[in-house]
Amino acid sequence: MEEVSAIVLAAGKGTRMKTNKSKVVHKIYGKELVKRVVETAYKAGIKDVITVVGHKREEVERVLGDSVKYAYQDELLGTGHTAMQAIPYLKGKKGKVVILYGDVPLIRPETIKKLIAKSVMDREYATILTAIYDNPTGYGRVIRDIGGNVKAIVEEKDATEEEKYINEINAGVYCFDIEELILALEKLTPNNAQGEYYLTDVIKIMNDKGLKTGAIIIEDNTEILGVNDRSQLEMLTRILKIRINQEHMKNGVTIEDMENTYIYDDVKIGVDTVIHPNTTIKSGVVIGENCEIGPNSYIREGCNIADNVKIGSFVELKKATIGEGTKVPHLSYMGDCEIGSKTNIGCGTITCNYDGFKKSKTIIGNNAFIGSNVNFIAPVTVGDNTLIAAGSTITDDVPADALSIARERQTNKEGWNKKD
Ligand code: UD1
Ligand code: MG
Repeated sequence: MEEVSAIVLAAGKGTRMKTNKSKVVHKIYGKELVKRVVETAYKAGIKDVITVVGHKREEVERVLGDSVKYAYQDELLGTGHTAMQAIPYLKGKKGKVVILYGDVPLIRPETIKKLIAKSVMDREYATILTAIYDNPTGYGRVIRDIGGNVKAIVEEKDATEEEKYINEINAGVYCFDIEELILALEKLTPNNAQGEYYLTDVIKIMNDKGLKTGAIIIEDNTEILGVNDRSQLEMLTRILKIRINQEHMKNGVTIEDMENTYIYDDVKIGVDTVIHPNTTIKSGVVIGENCEIGPNSYIREGCNIADNVKIGSFVELKKATIGEGTKVPHLSYMGDCEIGSKTNIGCGTITCNYDGFKKSKTIIGNNAFIGSNVNFIAPVTVGDNTLIAAGSTITDDVPADALSIARERQTNKEGWNKKD
């Protein structure tokens, strides 16, 4: 198949977000809306993404960097006008272009692939994604002929009373033939209720020319939800959370409380690992098989946890490599560290990894027993088979097989506090 391009519309204002930022740089699970859309396009096999920016465009550009090409829309004259800005990048190309909205972040790569595949197989000049809604208010309605062929999209504000009863809506994801899209965009006019250039009018323009158009009805309606305000932002975060948790459960991970487990994108977890409630695991973390994580723990970026590890309650890990069978059972902060296998980290133990200027590393060997409430002043290395006494503040390296005690000796002053 020929290479497919994509246009991501991200010039809009987002008035209902009540924000000083561009709407599409708001994050869901740590990743900006527009970045999610662009990454999904690439995951769907699209090679070339053009993002149309306008309002607060420098913020969108900062987020996407050089991962995309940019087109500019100076005046917000409607979605058709937005798409027109990308034409210079498409002129002279053949094949397909997918159009996505920058504020619809949960679309799956498989759905985009299906749309492209249908448009190629059925030789359609426009293939649109649609959904069946109980309450279609606010959306563009899909007009089909008696044969079921897609003929046009009518926007809510332009729809007749009869058309408003149609419950098949335009989801806002399209696959077009590039050459015919350019020709159709050039014919758009703003002669409609909103005085805008509607991208959706392209469907009728193509049909009038005798070009075949079609649609796929989406199975999972949550994929096409958009973010217009803060409560939708929260709702989509919840949907993504459940989607990711379900995926891990399908792969053999036990999650005790789906609603209160927060696993970000691209986390790997082995089979038979149990995640207890209120646990957060950030992007890119790798966890082995048969581990116990949580409750109330926070596994931050850069962690690599081997098999049979226990990370208990109220533990924060950052850039921590933890060897097989090691336990960090309670109330610890272990950051910038490498811990060997079968080591036990006592309650309340922390790494002091930051001196106000730079981060330093703590290295702890295998089979070490770290007592409760130990501070490791990094950089520091602790050998295999060591025993560190509770309450120690470890500033110097500890050789293998040693016992290390680093705390003030206790003095009892007899009678000192006697009340008569
Ligand atoms: C659009 C569709 C409608 C569909 C709905 C699905 C049109 C005319 N209508 O309506 O059929 O049911 O999406 O959610 O396309 N944008 C710009 N520049 C502009 C205008 C919009 O970049 O000048 C961007 C917005 O930031 C947004 C996207 O395009 O990301 C969609 O625009 P929006 O105004 O939300 O379109 P709807 O009225 O919701
Ligand atoms: Mg919208």
